[in-house]
Amino acid sequence: MDQMAPELVAAPRDYLAEDPATLPLAQFDVGRAILFQHDAFWPYFARLRREAPVHYCDCGEFGNYWSITKYKHIVQIEANHEVFSSDVTRGGITLRDQLEDFVLPMFIAMDPPVHDFQRAAVQPIVAPANLARLEVLIRDRAQEILDNLPVGEVFNWVDRVSIELTTQMLATLFDFPWQDRRRLTRWSDVATATPGGGIVDTEDQRKAELLECLQYFLGLWNERVNAEPRGDLLSLMAHAEATRHQSPMELLGNLLLLIVGGNDTTRNSISGGIYALNKFPDEYTKLLGNPGLIKNMVPEIIRWQTPLAHMRRTATRDFEFEGHKIHAGDRVVMWYVSGNRDEEVIPDADRLIIDRERSGRHLSFGFGLHRCLGERLADMQLRIVWEEILKRFGRIEVVEEPKRVVSSFVKGYEVLNVRIPHP
Ligand code: HEM
Repeated sequence: MDQMAPELVAAPRDYLAEDPATLPLAQFDVGRAILFQHDAFWPYFARLRREAPVHYCDCGEFGNYWSITKYKHIVQIEANHEVFSSDVTRGGITLRDQLEDFVLPMFIAMDPPVHDFQRAAVQPIVAPANLARLEVLIRDRAQEILDNLPVGEVFNWVDRVSIELTTQMLATLFDFPWQDRRRLTRWSDVATATPGGGIVDTEDQRKAELLECLQYFLGLWNERVNAEPRGDLLSLMAHAEATRHQSPMELLGNLLLLIVGGNDTTRNSISGGIYALNKFPDEYTKLLGNPGLIKNMVPEIIRWQTPLAHMRRTATRDFEFEGHKIHAGDRVVMWYVSGNRDEEVIPDADRLIIDRERSGRHLSFGFGLHRCLGERLADMQLRIVWEEILKRFGRIEVVEEPKRVVSSFVKGYEVLNVRIPHP
């Protein structure tokens, strides 16, 4: 008889039906994308911070992993890059390992010294003089996008504003052909997509689209490498010793790093701000009464949103951490989304408070040697968008709950329907 007795077949877990208050900690699997899609993960992290701040999950979709959920522990893990490696060949920086047949080296997923050389190659993109040049462009573009919004109608803020603005920015950073710029948006989405999650159907489709991205950029690379050095990201890489001789897959990896880094994150912070101010209308009133608060509000929005929910490291050797024995090869996931709500460090952390003291104290940009390279650029973009919004509109109303991205890595929105009332 080859039929299994029905009681021996494990029923698939219904993650949304489980109660995080009573579920045994051993069954916690906070990396499930479905919890993020439904914004249902918060009570899991609150309980982990209280009862098991260093937690081991042996029922993960992509393998076993440790969850680090308190602010101070995340900082400690980030600071110890010798034990907690980012290296792609050990698994990289997301909960899900990189596919072995499609390894994309990129400097966010490298350890020193190569990481440091490659990071230095593109660092000039955020030099003060370059930021000042970009500020003018970003403001022009933000003004145009906002001036063309359909006042009085319901529209998707993500598509009309957040994607458009960050895509234009990205095209500028790469000096990328303007008419093709939405391809950057597509590649950014595909790079972080889970097959079957709505963006790509299969892993093969994902790979094929990313190889198209490489082909496209190789054409641009060949132009830049033979031309005089310029200030765009491709030219910077084509002319720096550390990146000039990269293999095609390394080039693709670094391109995707810069595409995703400069796109999804800022995009979701722009949308997240609109959403958060609608959730906390008193804060919106405060802002409308005092636009001078924008500078302080921007980091608060980035904390509250936490556009990248986690980064992962892999232990290079056995290590004792907070009374737990972490073994060589273990995945260690730092949940920024939880550290940013740690009341021990951030009082009243679930609330958006636009005039919060020390609003820059958060983990959304990470910490240590991989701390976000584009931080100042992202801050500047958000500041400009809000300055231009407040010059034009009163309250922008969110008309329904957003549709969220199906991912426990990129924490963001696919659809955020809003209406701008007629003045
Ligand atoms: C609100 C917007 C952004 C957020 C929340 C964000 C978040 C992050 C995080 C969490 C990391 C990893 C930090 C760590 O491991 O400790 C990172 C790294 C990085 N980000 Fe961003 N980022 C944003 C915007 C940008 C922009 C606009 C760029 C454009 C160039 C960018 C480029 C990078 C790069 C190149 C790295 C790798 C740094 C390294 O490994 O040394 N990011 N970012």
